[in-house]
Amino acid sequence: MHDEELFFMRAPWQFDPDFQRSERTGDELGFETRALHAGFRPEGSLERFRTFAPPIIPSMTYPYECFDKIPYPVYGRTKTPTADILEQRLAALEGGEAAVTAASGSQALFNLIFTIARPGDNIVTSLNIFGEGYKQAASIFPERCGVQFRFVDDPACQESWDKEIDARTKLVWVETPSNPTLFVTDIRAVADVAHAHRVPLMVDNTTVTAALQQPLQLGADIVLLSVTKFLSGNATVLGGAIVGPLDLTEDIRWNTTEFVGAIMQPFDSWLTLQYLETLSLRMRRHSDNAQMIAEFLEQHPKVSRVNYTGLASHPQAALARRQMKGGGGMLSFVVPGGIPSARTVMDSFQLVIHAVTFGTSRTICMHPRTITHEHMTQAERDKAGIDDGLIRLSVGLEDPNDLITDLDQALSKL
Ligand SMILES: Cc1ncc(COP(=O)(O)O)c(C=O)c1O
Repeated sequence: MHDEELFFMRAPWQFDPDFQRSERTGDELGFETRALHAGFRPEGSLERFRTFAPPIIPSMTYPYECFDKIPYPVYGRTKTPTADILEQRLAALEGGEAAVTAASGSQALFNLIFTIARPGDNIVTSLNIFGEGYKQAASIFPERCGVQFRFVDDPACQESWDKEIDARTKLVWVETPSNPTLFVTDIRAVADVAHAHRVPLMVDNTTVTAALQQPLQLGADIVLLSVTKFLSGNATVLGGAIVGPLDLTEDIRWNTTEFVGAIMQPFDSWLTLQYLETLSLRMRRHSDNAQMIAEFLEQHPKVSRVNYTGLASHPQAALARRQMKGGGGMLSFVVPGGIPSARTVMDSFQLVIHAVTFGTSRTICMHPRTITHEHMTQAERDKAGIDDGLIRLSVGLEDPNDLITDLDQALSKL
């Protein structure tokens, strides 16, 4: 990969539907081992020292040895050694060939679309996507770049996906489980439809991470990640990544990232490498805590609906069990009485923190109707299940009994 050729403008990526079945790498070691070792070994790590922890190298430029030898990395916008280690580790965790980071998950999505779509092209997705993704799909790309987005009518139905794909479709985009309603899409079924049209499938794996779900093994070609969420785990890093074939990640790196924004910065990359070491442990604990809280909320008289992939009442419970190794840390629930009730409950929390992110070690609540999904039309919100009384809970790593006590006292104010 460290090839001078990469320094020059690259040809646009061409999707090869057979790629992921023949060339995937990184599956040799167990997930927990990859989270600790992929991309970095102490041997020969620095010229004069062996270092146990991966190095942070903050340099943004990399001097030439001589006129004719271009160094790689050459400049910090596209590659630094610490981000390179992180990219290799993220690729190894997802079982993908390569990764390219971005300043945020939202930017990683922007970079992917900007790289592969041209005016007149379209992208097929559903309304079960995060708020900033919806804004890119509903207004930024159609209005400014002439790239249209089609929202399938019924994301649980293969025919619905099939109907929207045509000769100008450049990507099928699935977010599963979705933020904030935890809708579960059948990755293999949608991959089959996309591949029948020779179109790649991208799965946003942010809400449960590779520790619980492996989209590339289920037939996806590309993975979108917000590093800001569970991957780093405590809201001290902003970052994102695209994992997929090397030709794609380098097309993004050299034809988009190079111009519109940088990869993740060295210190953030380094922090993420530390946090990834405990990803598997954290995701298990997030899942256990969320399961307990979902069960508590489901029997609570002041709660009218609970969305959690680990509940038997989840509409796609069997699919979720098949596709995921755990429910993850995100759930959402509806309180009757709309926005005033949501306000009362959220203002009454004493332990749960009201903030705009998820995937943190501390439990966070957020009101999607007014904060992340305010740009959807009412009809779209109804279809996506974004009720006025919906509260999203990112369940943290606290003692779950303390969280239940806090939820109970806040709900008792209704
Ligand atoms: C599912 C999902 N993907 C991607 C993103 C974007 O990530 P970031 O906040 O790092 O831009 C978000 C943000 O909420 C998200 O919920």
